[in-house]
Amino acid sequence: MKAVVIDNFGGADVLVCREHPKPVPGKGEALIRVKAAGVNPVDWKTREGLLKTRLPHQFPIILGWDVAGTIAALGPGCRRFKKGDAVYAYARKPIIKDGCYAEFVALPEKHIAAKPATLDFKQAASIPLAALTAWQSLFDAAGLQRGQTVLIHAGAGGVGGFAVQLAKWKGARVIATASAANHEYVRGLGADEVIDYTSTDFVEAVRALAPKGVDVAYDTVGGEVQERTVATVRKGGALVTILAPTPAAQQAKGIRLHYVFVAPNAAQLKRLAALADAGRLRTHLAAVLPLEQAAEAHRLIQTGHTRGKIVLVP
Ligand SMILES: NC(=O)c1ccc[n+]([C@@H]2O[C@H](COP(=O)([O-])OP(=O)(O)OC[C@H]3O[C@@H](n4cnc5c(N)ncnc54)[C@H](OP(=O)(O)O)[C@@H]3O)[C@@H](O)[C@H]2O)c1
Repeated sequence: MKAVVIDNFGGADVLVCREHPKPVPGKGEALIRVKAAGVNPVDWKTREGLLKTRLPHQFPIILGWDVAGTIAALGPGCRRFKKGDAVYAYARKPIIKDGCYAEFVALPEKHIAAKPATLDFKQAASIPLAALTAWQSLFDAAGLQRGQTVLIHAGAGGVGGFAVQLAKWKGARVIATASAANHEYVRGLGADEVIDYTSTDFVEAVRALAPKGVDVAYDTVGGEVQERTVATVRKGGALVTILAPTPAAQQAKGIRLHYVFVAPNAAQLKRLAALADAGRLRTHLAAVLPLEQAAEAHRLIQTGHTRGKIVLVP
């Protein structure tokens, strides 16, 4: 099969599109014919070796943790799907090796869900990792409730865009940050207020909108942004981050700090698909590129200014 592999860590030029053995589904695994693979910042971080001490890996590595496609074959013990079913999945496995930038990927059947019926494969492939992250952060970690106020950083990004929509669906008041060029887009996703973090001090702006502080702040940027976000959270509120927790956040008194590392979850993917099919969860594709242009996709995602999502098609 055709696949994008890396034989060593490095810049975007280490991504090579070439022939690679087609995976054989093991016990409890389904083989998916990839129709589209989502691109996430973790892909370039993995490519550069930034996760090498944290996650076991084996070269050659096929990157990519987001997939939408059809069931091509089923290993022993699979019961939930049949050949030809349209599915989507968040495909992180214990060893970083056989990912989704390929024509086929084998995955535990328990991590796979039926694709949202109203979305095409490209749109579906853009959802799992980022939307599961938003769900697990806002609902599982922070326990966001109807009527609460939430600050969502990077409302125009992959995770932030889904977080804005999910928080709105939950009935929260949403304050998001984005550069001015993305304000209309982020309001369109449902944000009540959008702060231009490039021209305004977001801490002061949040304080003006929520004088007692927000119930939940969602850090999708990290570093100094996370440190300064501490001051936006009300006493007893929650700060959820998906980046490395900073000492300032760890030492903050009177707030709950949660670090989330997204986990595969087919039941949550099913709920996300239902929301998408009900018109409550949209996805915006900033770029759709062939597998052969994976390096270009990485250059784009690595800018840190993608609006929505990028996907690759075999
Ligand atoms: N722990 C986990 O499980 C987990 C899961 C998913 C992602 N992550 C990490 O979370 C981060 C975000 O992921 P993502 O997929 O959402 O990334 P992304 O789609 O690449 O985010 C891009 C967006 O970030 C916005 N942005 C950049 N700097 C900003 C700032 N200082 N303030 C506000 N917005 C800013 C940009 O908006 P403008 O163009 O308007 O600036 C752009 O729309 C990445 O570092 C990723 O690796 C972690």
